[in-house]
Amino acid sequence: MITKRTLIYSIILLCSASNNVDSWRFRGNKRSPVVLVPGDGGSQVEAKLNKSSVVHYLCEKTSTEYFNIWLNLELLVPIIIDCFIDNMKLTYDNTTRTTSNTPGVDINIPGWGDPFMVEWLDPSKASPGGYFKDVGNMLVSDLGYVRNLSLRGAPYDFRKAPNENGEYFKKLKTLIEETYLMNDKQPVTLIAHSMGGPMCLLFLQRQNQKWKNMYINSLITLGAVWGGSVKALKVFAIGDDLGAYLLRESILRNQQITSPSLGWLIPSSLFWKNSEVLVQTQTTNYTLNNLQQFFLDINVPNGWEFRKDTEVYQKDFTAPGVEVHCLHGANVDTVERLFYKAGATLDSHPQLINGDGDGTVNARSLEGCQHWQGKQNAKIYHQVFPHVDHMQILSNQSVLNYIKTVLTF
Ligand SMILES: *[C@@H]1O[C@H](CO)[C@@H](O)[C@H](O)[C@H]1NC(C)=O
Ligand SMILES: *[C@@H]1O[C@H](CO)[C@@H](O)[C@H](O)[C@H]1NC(C)=O
Ligand SMILES: *[C@@H]1O[C@H](CO)[C@@H](O)[C@H](O)[C@H]1NC(C)=O
Ligand SMILES: *[C@@H]1O[C@H](CO)[C@@H](O)[C@H](O)[C@H]1NC(C)=O
Ligand SMILES: *[C@@H]1O[C@H](CO)[C@@H](O)[C@H](O)[C@H]1NC(C)=O
Repeated sequence: MITKRTLIYSIILLCSASNNVDSWRFRGNKRSPVVLVPGDGGSQVEAKLNKSSVVHYLCEKTSTEYFNIWLNLELLVPIIIDCFIDNMKLTYDNTTRTTSNTPGVDINIPGWGDPFMVEWLDPSKASPGGYFKDVGNMLVSDLGYVRNLSLRGAPYDFRKAPNENGEYFKKLKTLIEETYLMNDKQPVTLIAHSMGGPMCLLFLQRQNQKWKNMYINSLITLGAVWGGSVKALKVFAIGDDLGAYLLRESILRNQQITSPSLGWLIPSSLFWKNSEVLVQTQTTNYTLNNLQQFFLDINVPNGWEFRKDTEVYQKDFTAPGVEVHCLHGANVDTVERLFYKAGATLDSHPQLINGDGDGTVNARSLEGCQHWQGKQNAKIYHQVFPHVDHMQILSNQSVLNYIKTVLTF
């Protein structure tokens, strides 16, 4: 059977060593309150149904209440997974350039501000269904943080890219200001994982320096996807089994390829040369130069539209203007190129040629924060954790100790 541990392990697609935090500012007797910003797949999601048609007679057409759809393992078993995909997928309109849910499906991201929604993806708290839980537990038990007061969560609809998450950035600003006031005007620390890193970057780029100086203590990123990842192309091409080998990646792909956020996570032209081969077949080498052709050839033309809608965010890599602690793993095999054997078509399974990274994000993207050295007044601290993968970084003791040091004086 699929265990929750294997499943949860890699569901998230989709911040040179300096351990010196001595310069940490003394802020009286108070700790900086924390807001947790999750990555792709890192928020609980609930659905309410009133559908006129379903993809299988076993699928529910209606529900009287919202029910947890992500993450709920019971929905990922054969046949029922088809219901899940129909309820969770987005439909893209290439004229309005926006997405919508399947007719009759109402999707809600519950619990704004509540850290529980990002500490646990599975609300039943079945043990390996945790996400930010070890960070949360460490802050509460070791440092005396209080949930909903000095520890908050900022969940969002991770299927959508920033162009459709405008409201989120406004709500995040209010949440930070409110948390600052609730904690005797202590500036807030943002702790972000994976896609949460670039979400925070975009948010901070949109605030003026005066606001940042007042409200933000620092940004701690864990495995941030600063410049995209080849893994995103792999998911577009063949899907992802979420680390559970009994799940069929080709089935999950039907939902995964409808998420504009996946298009945002494609390798950035600031980090990859236009001529670098990302996908190789006998007849064609796909690079950033002919990426549109790749999406046409794998029959996911919307992937290219998602790219066009989100490239503007990748291209602005202006420093965030706050103190950054950029933590990430390394020395874990990470797909760098998809290689199709001679004669193999794009619908077969390619060989994944690996390079360095954290198993999900390529090293150059993880290290992206280094580009801000000297580009802002506040310091950029960079710390690599060898052999810690993209999900382990949320629970590795050395990482937790680092966070603890940053938040302690
Ligand atoms: C469900 O949808 C139908 C139309 O498709 C509508 O008439 C009905 O009021 C809806 N029910 C609820 C509870 O929203
Ligand atoms: C929008 O999508 C439709 C259907 O896939 C396609 O025929 C059309 O060319 C697309 N239009 C644009 C402007 O991309
Ligand atoms: C946090 O607030 C939410 C919403 O009010 C509540 O349901 C939850 O129980 C609170 N959590 C704690 C630990 O008090
Ligand atoms: C693709 O690129 C590789 C080098 O990375 C080269 O050996 C190969 O001949 C190229 N194939 C085509 C079809 O251009
Ligand atoms: C945590 O990370 C450190 C530093 O990379 C590593 O040495 C250690 O083995 C990791 N711990 C576990 C339990 O993986």
